Amino acid sequence: MQFDTIIRDGTVVTASDTYASDIGITSGRIAAIARDLPADSARTLLDAKGFLVIPGGIDVHTHLDMPFGGTTSSDDFETGTRAAAFGGTTTLIDFAIQYKGQSLRQALDTWMKKAEAKAVADYAFHCIITDVAAAQLEEMGALVREGISTFKLFMAYPGVFMLDDATIFRAMLQAAKHGGMICMHAENGGAIDVIVRRALAEGKTAPKYHALTRPTTAEGEATSRAIALAEMAGAPVYIVHLSCNDALEKVREARDRGLPVYAETCPQYLYLSLDNFDAPGFEGAKYVFTPPLREKWHQEKLWQGLARDTLQVVSTDHCPFCFKEQKELGKDDFTKIPNGGPGVEHRLSLIYSGGVHGGKFSANRFVELVSTAPAKLFGLYPRKGTIAVGSDADLVVFDPNAEQVISAKTHHMRVDYSMFEGIRVRGLPKVVLSRGRVIVQDGKFTGRAGAGEFIRRQTFSGPAM
Ligand code: URP
Ligand code: ZN
Ligand code: ZN
Repeated sequence: MQFDTIIRDGTVVTASDTYASDIGITSGRIAAIARDLPADSARTLLDAKGFLVIPGGIDVHTHLDMPFGGTTSSDDFETGTRAAAFGGTTTLIDFAIQYKGQSLRQALDTWMKKAEAKAVADYAFHCIITDVAAAQLEEMGALVREGISTFKLFMAYPGVFMLDDATIFRAMLQAAKHGGMICMHAENGGAIDVIVRRALAEGKTAPKYHALTRPTTAEGEATSRAIALAEMAGAPVYIVHLSCNDALEKVREARDRGLPVYAETCPQYLYLSLDNFDAPGFEGAKYVFTPPLREKWHQEKLWQGLARDTLQVVSTDHCPFCFKEQKELGKDDFTKIPNGGPGVEHRLSLIYSGGVHGGKFSANRFVELVSTAPAKLFGLYPRKGTIAVGSDADLVVFDPNAEQVISAKTHHMRVDYSMFEGIRVRGLPKVVLSRGRVIVQDGKFTGRAGAGEFIRRQTFSGPAM
């Protein structure tokens, strides 16, 4: 058998197994997994001795080239997918936003155009629905059939994205009917709005008030309501960017009852806390995203949630805005700071470092959290998310012991600060392949803009997690 590439002598790590093997790649797919594949049977040999070989990371929550808060997120589909690749992530699921009065199709067309000539690695879309009338409900089925099988709805941001319970319920019924799933931004936007107005009236305008006006109770309440609505609709629900123990407990209770309820958290909630707002001057704006940072004790609960499968996925909610000129829009009023933070590049290293080296879970669970569970939940499995014959050769040769201090000086995201500045991580990608092509090798980018493909996702296939 002839191969395009053989990855030799690596330790293959999937969500379930760890074993020594070579991997043979042909036409972008994994063609053989066996020991001692003949060296002369491939044009390219990649030596993985001493390293792990893991499936490419899948980040199911990014916002590239997204207009928000009077500006646009600073990474586009080229710089964002490139930075992701440096960090070992080979597939992104971004969000196409339907604005008021638009069809869902218009949203999808707009985001397809943003991505197609630029993405260096594969991508898919969820659709954010902000305006749900009969026509849009009708369109949901068509989108699911075209591979957009998940829809994000907001219980926060009144007047911009927020939907009422009846609308959410209708959308859940419709998603369930077509094999789709609702991804929920769960915060009680109405209550938060009242607290925010009161803070502003009292002259509390600094960045930290973004966090202090969004209590954990607001996230817990909305998470509970989202779960109740989904239960009544007979629909699965996926809670995005879960940040605190209040919400975690609601998810745990629902899962204990056997409901198809899933949730993700993000590295910022595992590594950062309200303490970050002690940064001097306006620097706290670097940590303004939603839900906000919480008291430090929530971090340990979230790590436990990952280890115990209350949380199934780690995504990034990568939504970068530069400190200069973008975050500065809110210098005198925290409500004008564009919400979001950069993180797409460091997810794998942060989770391997804190999770596996930190003794919280195994390397297999790490793979499950950053690749396999995202693929299964979002209709990409087994094409992506595992190492198996026939799967896409999205692979990462991962050095489990290489160290790096994260810094904006060396990162590849198009943003002028890092949320994780100064944090030392252990575990770094060495070689990254997207459908068999090496796109990053030893810190050098070897990919090409436009090489990434849109991936049609399958429907939600039930509570297989
Ligand atoms: O602050 C955040 N998270 N910005 C991105 C939009 C969202 O709610 O996910
Ligand atoms: Zn959100
Ligand atoms: Zn988001």
